Amino acid sequence: MQTLKVALVGAGMAGQAHAFGYRNASMADDLRDVAIELDTVADVSEALAEDVRLRYGFKRATADISQIAANPEIDVISVALPNHAHRAVLEVLLRSGKHVLTEKPLGVGVEDAEYLTNLSLQYPGIRSVGFSYRRIPALAQMAQIVREGRLGDIWHFESSYYADHAASAADRFTWRFDRATAGGGALSDLGAHAVDAIAFVISPIDEVLSAQFKTSITERTDRSGQQHEVTNDDFASALVRTECGAAGSLLTSRVAYGQPNRLSLSVYGSKGSAHFDTQHYNDLKVFEAGGNAATTGPSHVVMGPANPHYSDVSSFRSRGVNTGYGEAFIAEIQDFIRAVVGRKELDTTFDNALHAMRVIESMYAFDTKTALQN
Ligand SMILES: NC(=O)c1ccc[n+]([C@@H]2O[C@H](COP(=O)([O-])OP(=O)(O)OC[C@H]3O[C@@H](n4cnc5c(N)ncnc54)[C@H](O)[C@@H]3O)[C@@H](O)[C@H]2O)c1
Repeated sequence: MQTLKVALVGAGMAGQAHAFGYRNASMADDLRDVAIELDTVADVSEALAEDVRLRYGFKRATADISQIAANPEIDVISVALPNHAHRAVLEVLLRSGKHVLTEKPLGVGVEDAEYLTNLSLQYPGIRSVGFSYRRIPALAQMAQIVREGRLGDIWHFESSYYADHAASAADRFTWRFDRATAGGGALSDLGAHAVDAIAFVISPIDEVLSAQFKTSITERTDRSGQQHEVTNDDFASALVRTECGAAGSLLTSRVAYGQPNRLSLSVYGSKGSAHFDTQHYNDLKVFEAGGNAATTGPSHVVMGPANPHYSDVSSFRSRGVNTGYGEAFIAEIQDFIRAVVGRKELDTTFDNALHAMRVIESMYAFDTKTALQN
């Protein structure tokens, strides 16, 4: 039995999803011989760290993250901080040589992402980035179908990630709405997952043809009642091409009323098409050309143990009982742990995050207005 002691840095929304992942990671049959101990949870808010300690069963809670890198007891560290804090914190943790899983994005821009990616290669330890959508069974199945060539050459696609957590002007100002603390807005926060889903399922984006941005709510009030200007995008759309020559679109919004959290990807190829949408999280729609025209249509595949990750994370190992986004974090942590114990190569390295950051930054380069001359 191998024991891995875990520290979590950042106990907010994503940090807690990581805690949920570690807590349940040993559900996978092939990880039964790895004991995962939730050792330390660290957050600048000690009260939050303590709350998360109790909720997920960590041994210790602290507001002092400086002890984690130097603590010889800790093997594995998860990082989920406001984007601007990633660089300084990761710099220390990467140098410690411990295994690190960090949330995306790698800082607030390409310069941070390049710096951290270079650093990640200079010290030992497994490095992974939280592209959790890759671990959703239906999206992972879609990637497998494309890799197997069942849809032929991918000709075109459409992707979107909509949320409505900021759709009301009363939604309060946080680090996410400021270019200095977040870098980009909806595109960098949400669209990064769509950029990565395209790389995962089709191939990496290598050309951005156009992009437009809109900030619909330009001022917000923080928790203490102070008003702030919003300095990044609420909405973004872009036209892109991938390395394999597929052409497509990406739309993202954090002010899309009625769409609480929705990533979707449709791909169309020379032999068929496939469609995934988190609103039907456990379904994959697949159409393979060539059947009887009178009776052929897209098949609606309900996820189950035959699909990637499902048996490792589902409390019922049978079809149709369904998993959700929390379980994607279990699968993400399981793959990270497999890499740590030398059983898997990861496809979510800092390089993947650097790619996403470069694509996003080349989209932001279009953020100038060109007025039509009438
Ligand atoms: N993969 C996903 O689906 C997903 C989902 C949400 C967020 N994220 C990413 O996770 C990161 C965190 O987002 P969030 O929604 O959890 O934010 P959050 O604001 O809910 O949590 C951030 C936490 O970090 C703490 N903190 C700030 N600076 C700190 C420091 N120097 N040391 C220790 N703690 C510090 C804050 O007190 C807060 O509790 C972001 O980079 C975001 O892009 C990823």
